[in-house]
Amino acid sequence: MTERCQGDTRPRTGPRARTAIVLAAAALLAATSAAFLPGTASAGTTLGASAAEKGRYFGTAVAASRLSDGNYTTILNREFNSVTPENEMKIDATEPQQGRFSYGAAEQIVNHARSRGMSVRGHTLAWHSQQPPWMESMSGSALRSAMLNHVTQVATHFRGQVVAWDVVNEAFEDGTSGARRNSNLQRTGNDWIEAAFRAARTADPGAKLCYNDYNTDNWTHAKTQAVYNMVRDFKSRGVPIDCVGFQSHFNNDSPYVSNYRTTLSSFAALGVDVQVTELDIQGAPAATYRSVVEDCLAVARCNGVTVWGIRDSDSWRASQTPLLFNSSGQKKAAYDAVLAALNNGTTPTDPPTTPPTTPPTTPPSGSCTATLQDSTRWGDRFNSQVTVSGATNWTVVVAVTPPQKVSNTWNGTPTWDSSGNVMTMRSNGSGNVFGFTTMANGTWTRPVVRSCTVS
Ligand code: XIL
Repeated sequence: MTERCQGDTRPRTGPRARTAIVLAAAALLAATSAAFLPGTASAGTTLGASAAEKGRYFGTAVAASRLSDGNYTTILNREFNSVTPENEMKIDATEPQQGRFSYGAAEQIVNHARSRGMSVRGHTLAWHSQQPPWMESMSGSALRSAMLNHVTQVATHFRGQVVAWDVVNEAFEDGTSGARRNSNLQRTGNDWIEAAFRAARTADPGAKLCYNDYNTDNWTHAKTQAVYNMVRDFKSRGVPIDCVGFQSHFNNDSPYVSNYRTTLSSFAALGVDVQVTELDIQGAPAATYRSVVEDCLAVARCNGVTVWGIRDSDSWRASQTPLLFNSSGQKKAAYDAVLAALNNGTTPTDPPTTPPTTPPTTPPSGSCTATLQDSTRWGDRFNSQVTVSGATNWTVVVAVTPPQKVSNTWNGTPTWDSSGNVMTMRSNGSGNVFGFTTMANGTWTRPVVRSCTVS
């Protein structure tokens, strides 16, 4: 590597019933209005929850060695719903000696993340850098076989646990050539990248397979165009590629540019998802962080943003103080900008922001109803939205079907039964619409509302 790189509902008649209907309708309108006002009742208070409301994730790189640091894990567990092992899934970590695989540190991160409902991005299966010595010294068909075996073994080991793999990392040259990087892997033949993607698809058919690179943010750069042409070619020939990762390490030499959104949307138009995979920005200017998040939210196939570390002191470029939290773990201005961008972002399914025409009235007490609606769906998970009418202090019980797991909630306080499949959600002052993300784990049954009671 170079330095650039989820009551009683019987009908009634008479005056009391009419009153109840009017009150219920008014309550529904009030709840609806509150939920649809941008940036108010539905605004999340953490990066992950806010991103989930917009159908995205917000992730961070995680180092296994830092999981014993309480300040670090407090922020990690509070703010993020996606995790990328910073070094622990790289080739030198997972296959230090040829044919001897070592997954301990990677599993530590995967278990930490998945037990808390965070998804995992796998990084990375084939790369010219951070190769173990045995691989660095290999070439030709032996290297090709070793590389494909590595892809197969690692992707198989983590099958079902990794939502997206950076199958190939940084395979293109910098500068104006638009050429492939001259690496030992490239010298095994130009088809090494597609061979790696095919091996990864066979090993874990459920994972999204990404090509990941840096300095591919500027739409006019030769390297960006070269990667674009490769992805277009892969799509036209049926090479199994699902996504493109943009590392987006921005600094004075490689700055954020306003055509970044064009880059993301142009790749997405090829029929792949796009992801911001390793974001850090020299000096962490709030406006630039905000732009990056707004650009992702503007592109329907931009799944999420991962920052490359939590606190500045965790960064591979610590001296650039490029992250969202300072070294003491306090939120920086860039954090507030990112959260605001996530909360202000719209989704294609957002309803119009019509102001209320009837003043809110007090809903009747004693009973409530909760209606569940499907919301955004992805390859591995889906969102549901529950609208409560008839009470402000409500308790709604929702059940998901195993092996589904709820990975994220917003606008309510959840508790769980011992199975983890039955969620009791209580109002927390955030309005009468709450939501949650369900990891499908292969089962797409709609969650069921079991009850609505007034607390
Ligand atoms: C970096 C890690 O953050 C460092 O800890 C390590 O020493 C070198 O690699 N592009 C990538 C990431 O794809 O894997 C790199 O991570 C940063 C650049």
